[in-house]
Amino acid sequence: MTKLSFDYHTKVNSHNSSYSCLWINPLSSSIGAYTTSFQRIRLSKRGWERIKVGKYCLQTSYKLFYTRFYMGNGNSFGRCFRISTWGESHGAGVGVTVDGCPPQLPLTVDDIQRELDRRRPGQSRIVTPRKEQDEAEILSGVVDGQTLGTPIAILVRNQDQRPQDYDTVAVKYRPSHADATYDAKYGTRAVAGGGRSSARETIGRVAAGAIAKKILATYCNMEILGYVQRVKDIAAIHLDPDKVTLEQIEKNIVRCPDERVAQEMIELIDKIRRSGDSLGGVVECIVRNVPAGLGSPVFDKLEAELAKACMSLPASKGFEIGSGFSGTYMTGSEHNDEFYIDSDGRTRTRTNRSGGIQGGISNGENIILRVAFKPTSTIGKVQKTVSTSGEEVELRGKGRHDPCVLPRAVPMVEAMVALVMVDQLMQQIAQSFLPFRRESIAFHSLGKELFH
Ligand SMILES: Cc1cc2nc3c(=O)[nH]c(=O)nc-3n(C[C@H](O)[C@H](O)[C@H](O)COP(=O)(O)O)c2cc1C
Repeated sequence: MTKLSFDYHTKVNSHNSSYSCLWINPLSSSIGAYTTSFQRIRLSKRGWERIKVGKYCLQTSYKLFYTRFYMGNGNSFGRCFRISTWGESHGAGVGVTVDGCPPQLPLTVDDIQRELDRRRPGQSRIVTPRKEQDEAEILSGVVDGQTLGTPIAILVRNQDQRPQDYDTVAVKYRPSHADATYDAKYGTRAVAGGGRSSARETIGRVAAGAIAKKILATYCNMEILGYVQRVKDIAAIHLDPDKVTLEQIEKNIVRCPDERVAQEMIELIDKIRRSGDSLGGVVECIVRNVPAGLGSPVFDKLEAELAKACMSLPASKGFEIGSGFSGTYMTGSEHNDEFYIDSDGRTRTRTNRSGGIQGGISNGENIILRVAFKPTSTIGKVQKTVSTSGEEVELRGKGRHDPCVLPRAVPMVEAMVALVMVDQLMQQIAQSFLPFRRESIAFHSLGKELFH
C-alpha cells in the first residue's frame, strides 16, 4: 500500500462536479472511498491509503459488503445558477466559475468590482491590513458587456503574500482555526494564509453574488442589504430593517446604519485590536421585493437553503430567520403573523415574525435573517495548543488578521443570500412557469416552436 501523494488528491478534487463513493464496512469497522478514477482508498491511522483494486472488484465488493454514500467535494454551490470557487489565500490567485447565468444580461467588470471593494482587506483600520486591490478579471462568458449564457470565469490575482508569517502555523495548530481538521482530512494543507479556509476564498462568492444581484435587480427589482447589527454586546436595537439604506450602511467603516452605535462599535474593535484579541457579532440581512412562491416545501425549504448558504461562510456560528430564537419566548397568539388584504388587493401579513417565509416558501414579505460570526481565531495572545508532531505547546498568532470579521462579512452574507435567491428564482421559472407561458415562449427561428 502506498501513501497517497498530494498530486493524487489534487487530481481527484479537480472533478468538482463529479462524485466519489464513500464506503463503510461494519464488519471490520473500516471506512474508505472509491474515487472518480476507479481507485479505492482507505482511512487508516496513517491517513488515506490507496488499496490496489480493479474495476470488477470495486463493483462486486460494494454490492456485497458496503453501505454507499455519494458525496461531492464541497467547492460548488447552487443548482440552476451553479458556482465553483477555487484558489488558495497565498497561491497565484482565487476566483469562481459561474455556470447557468442567463444570456444577454448586461455585465461589466465594474458590477463585480463594486462588491469586491466592499469585501477587500485593508479598507479601514479595523480590518486586516493585508494590501490587496482585488482587481477582478473576467476570463470568459461575457462579450461586449453582455453575458453569453456560457460559463463565466472570474480571476483575482493574489498580490501581497507573506508566507513567512505562517512558519509557526506549519507545525502548531491555531486553536479554533481549520489547520488541524484540514490535516485530519487531507493529510496535507496549504499552510500560508490557511489555504482555502481563508476568507480570501469568499472573493469568488462575492463576485458570483454580484452577478446574482444584477439578475435579481433586473428581473424582480429585488434588493439585498446586509449590515452589522451587533459587535460583542454593542447592538443597534432601534433600527427598522425595512427602511435601512445602502448609503446609511456604507457611511461608516463598521457598516452599521445607526451612526451613534457604529462609533461605539469602532471604538471597541480598535481597543481589542490594540490588545491583540478579537471580537464577534451579528450581521442582519434584509431582502426586499421578493416574489411570493420561491422555495420548496420539504428538504429544500427556502430558510434551509439560506441557512446552509450563510453557515458555509467562514467563522459563521449561528443562523436565525424572522423571530428566530427570540420567538420561543412568545405564545402562538403573540407570534402569529395575521393576514390582511392591502389597498392593492394583495394578501399581506401585519407583522413579519416568519421572516418572509412560511412552509419553506416566500410569502412576498421582506425576508429577514441574521448570521452570528465568532471572534477571529488567529489572535496575538499566547494560547495553548498542540503541534503537528503531537506535543502540547503554546502559540501566539502572527501576521495580518481581522480583529473582527463583521464589517467584511456584510458583502459575503449578501452574496450568499443573492446566490440562493437567484437559484430559487430560476428553479421556480423552470418548474412552475411553463403552464402560464404557453403563448409567449419564443425560440430562435432555427428551431421548431415548442407550443402552437
Ligand atoms: C470576513 C472574514 C475575515 C476573516 N479573517 C480572518 C483572519 O484574519 N484570521 C483568522 O484567523 N480567521 C479569519 N476568518 C475566519 C476563518 O477563515 C475561519 O475561522 C476558519 O476558516 C475556520 O473556519 P470556521 O471558523 O468556520 O470553523 C475570517 C472570516 C471572515 C468571514
